[in-house]
Amino acid sequence: MRFVVTAGPTREALDPVRFLSNRSSGKMGYAIAEAALAKKHDVTLISGPSCLAPPRGAKTVPITTSDELFAAVRRALRECDVLVMCAAVADYKPAAVSARKMKKRKAAFPLRLIPTRDVLASLPKRRRYLVVGFAAETHDLKKNAQKKLRTKNCDAIVANDVSGSETGMESDENEVTIFFRDDETKTISRALKEIIARELVKIFEKMFEKSLTKKS
Ligand code: CTP
Repeated sequence: MRFVVTAGPTREALDPVRFLSNRSSGKMGYAIAEAALAKKHDVTLISGPSCLAPPRGAKTVPITTSDELFAAVRRALRECDVLVMCAAVADYKPAAVSARKMKKRKAAFPLRLIPTRDVLASLPKRRRYLVVGFAAETHDLKKNAQKKLRTKNCDAIVANDVSGSETGMESDENEVTIFFRDDETKTISRALKEIIARELVKIFEKMFEKSLTKKS
């Protein structure tokens, strides 16, 4: 199987030295890439800025901004069986980017932000690959994840609670619930991200097999 995995945060520049971003470390996405490689799958890892070492054997595509991520995913989809959108994409970017470092002033500083492009929501409805989204939630996890599954037209969505520091963003551990289109759900209880990733890859393999039997 050919996996395309996105991981880490995006950065949206304000000026040459400042940016908007989020706390994503990339650990979950990198663990999924490693787990897929361990099962001998082809892996393209599209990664925002991260301190992690690129997995051996993966084709790694470094990106910084949400626009770069958008373009890299579109390119990678030409050879893809499963897209796993684990990246924490910034939802907004500054309306204007200053070419020069902005100088400090005494007055308050209004910042105009515009929405970034939503990679998942932009994908065609008819497609040959499976699409797995992630949902980072601090509240109403089930309701929000199910809404994202439908509005972003995913085949499955992996929801994780990012309200605490024990699991989710930056942490070594996670606990996830996967929501499928047929209303089935599956929870993987708290474990190291490497272990969660192995379980997720097994689930993605099964989804892929099922999609092949449907087509034939
Ligand atoms: N995503 C995307 N493009 C964006 C924003 C998010 O493709 N511009 C993807 C993420 O990679 C993830 C899914 O959409 O797979 C859900 O991301 P999340 O941050 O949980 O939700 P948002 O869509 O950003 O909505 P909200 O911030 O309101 O929860």
